[in-house]
Amino acid sequence: MKILVAYNSAHGSTQSIAERIEERIRQGNIGDTTLSTISKALSVEDFDVLVLGSAIHYQGWLKEAQAFVKRSSSYLHDNPKPTWAFSVGMPPDSGVASEEKVLEKWLRKYVTLRGHKLFQGEYKESDFNGCFKLLLRCFGGKFEDRRNWSQIDEWADSIVQELRVDQQATADN
Ligand SMILES: Cc1cc2nc3c(=O)[nH]c(=O)nc-3n(C[C@H](O)[C@H](O)[C@H](O)COP(=O)(O)O)c2cc1C
Repeated sequence: MKILVAYNSAHGSTQSIAERIEERIRQGNIGDTTLSTISKALSVEDFDVLVLGSAIHYQGWLKEAQAFVKRSSSYLHDNPKPTWAFSVGMPPDSGVASEEKVLEKWLRKYVTLRGHKLFQGEYKESDFNGCFKLLLRCFGGKFEDRRNWSQIDEWADSIVQELRVDQQATADN
């Protein structure tokens, strides 16, 4: 089984989460894993299982990730492979469920999904200029690392579990 974990990241936290997901799935020993950025060169046809992720900017996936999902839609929607998606943002805790729902609704227009999860990311002061710092402060945001590694591991492990069930079902038939 060939498993792709592909992501787009602007400042590195989505990349770190994708790396962790890929590592965790690899440790599950259910197939060969590949970690890649989402780019024009990426061909989903080469894989059996897809895990796609993006940082959230302005309530949506990054432009390149959005373009990829739209471009691959006929394949991902009409000829689905087991596919999961994750989004990485910094909503307040009270806003996680609603932002997750909005993103999942958008994704499901283009991709048949087994599941979607929103993970909290990170704001690093060194990544931003003065204007952004001011804007962040105005909206009550803080420079902080909100990545929850046990939640990320749990989600990756649930993918491994589902794929094991699929493999068992195929072996039984
Ligand atoms: C320009 C900009 C816009 C953002 N917009 C959102 C947003 O709409 N919703 C959200 O939850 N987080 C938003 N964020 C927070 C990022 O999604 C968060 O910092 C995430 O960890 C970024 O991932 P990255 O480090 O992989 O780029 C925004 C960040 C930036 C810099």
